[in-house]
Amino acid sequence: MKLAVYSAQPYDRRFLDEARHNFAIAGIDAVYFSDALTLDTIPLAQGCEAVCVFVNDQLDAGVLAALHASGVRAVLLRCAGFNNVDLQTGHALGLFMARVPAYAPEAVAEHALAMVMTLNRHTHRAYARVREGNFALDGLLGMTLHGKTVGIVGAGQIGAAAARIFHGLGCQVLISDPMPLPQLAAVARHVPLDQLLASADIVSLHCPLMDSTRHMINAASLARMKPGAMLVNTSRGGLIDTAAVIEALKSRQLGALAIDVYEQEACLFFHDHSSDIIADDVFQRLLTFPNVLVTGHQGFFTIEAMREIASVTFDNLACYIQHRPCPNLLPAGIAATSPAPTPAASLNAAPANTEAASITPKK
Ligand code: NAI
Repeated sequence: MKLAVYSAQPYDRRFLDEARHNFAIAGIDAVYFSDALTLDTIPLAQGCEAVCVFVNDQLDAGVLAALHASGVRAVLLRCAGFNNVDLQTGHALGLFMARVPAYAPEAVAEHALAMVMTLNRHTHRAYARVREGNFALDGLLGMTLHGKTVGIVGAGQIGAAAARIFHGLGCQVLISDPMPLPQLAAVARHVPLDQLLASADIVSLHCPLMDSTRHMINAASLARMKPGAMLVNTSRGGLIDTAAVIEALKSRQLGALAIDVYEQEACLFFHDHSSDIIADDVFQRLLTFPNVLVTGHQGFFTIEAMREIASVTFDNLACYIQHRPCPNLLPAGIAATSPAPTPAASLNAAPANTEAASITPKK
């Protein structure tokens, strides 16, 4: 059986090969491609019965139909989010489609904390200053996190881990979630979103991207936030209306922004563009703010999470090969949602980043 791995970086190959060697089923031949899966790159999967994909690979109706026509029968997502998959088409074609529902949720929550700490205490700027022999403190003033209010929007696996972390720091933790976890009552208080936005010094987003959550942070919700509050997004870029956030940063209504995800990230993230001219003016504007911190979708990127992703991916493949029930199948879907709006005409088109509204929150 041949498996085509798309969007493969050297680290993917390292952990997938490690898992493949420990895999009980022999005869799996993995071929790795750094290219993302699109209509144009489908021929790379020639002769493969399975493909393995990541967050920015395109799995719309046309791509799924073409994969199926070329003999692919199994689609293995090495991520939790499946907003890039046309579920209805995939199921209609009878494709086996499975994901890795959770891999070290603490890794993403810890990255959110790292971003808060960096922005709040300006360690990114202090690091550069000290290396230049500048030990002045002016401009590095932060706040003590102990006693501050942190609002967690979406208290599933990652949001719950974030709630526990901030509770441990002595923060008051508020959560907003239509299906809050009862066991979080010891560390957090459930409140309506508007109350959370009005009270929190730090708002951290951990809910999935769906039509109902797209641009949940917009001009109106930003106006409801506590003036000068920090916004953190390690979930999906489409939760935020970036143009509105830029206006809120300019007016100082928003005090700081930390993002690990960006609505048009498919054109940028996971690749070295240091010698390119980046045409995304919205993204470039974000980088000009001293109080904005951007990382390139690395929240999940720990040894433990990579091992978990690789091993669950091969477990899913084993279910397919051995015709066993798979606990990680993608749910039956509704029609694919509308594509993400493009914030600036200069942007390249990117696939919609919307998880189907039929998602069942994990508990
Ligand atoms: P989860 O499914 O365990 O939790 C999501 C929670 O959001 C659920 O409790 C659900 O009830 C809640 N929710 C749904 N709609 C909501 C709304 N309108 N307002 C507030 N809460 C709402 O998902 P998990 O594993 O915690 O992941 C969360 C998100 O993190 C994923 O959807 C994914 O987009 C992102 N993620 C980011 C990674 C990174 O590397 N930056 C890595 C893994 C996931």
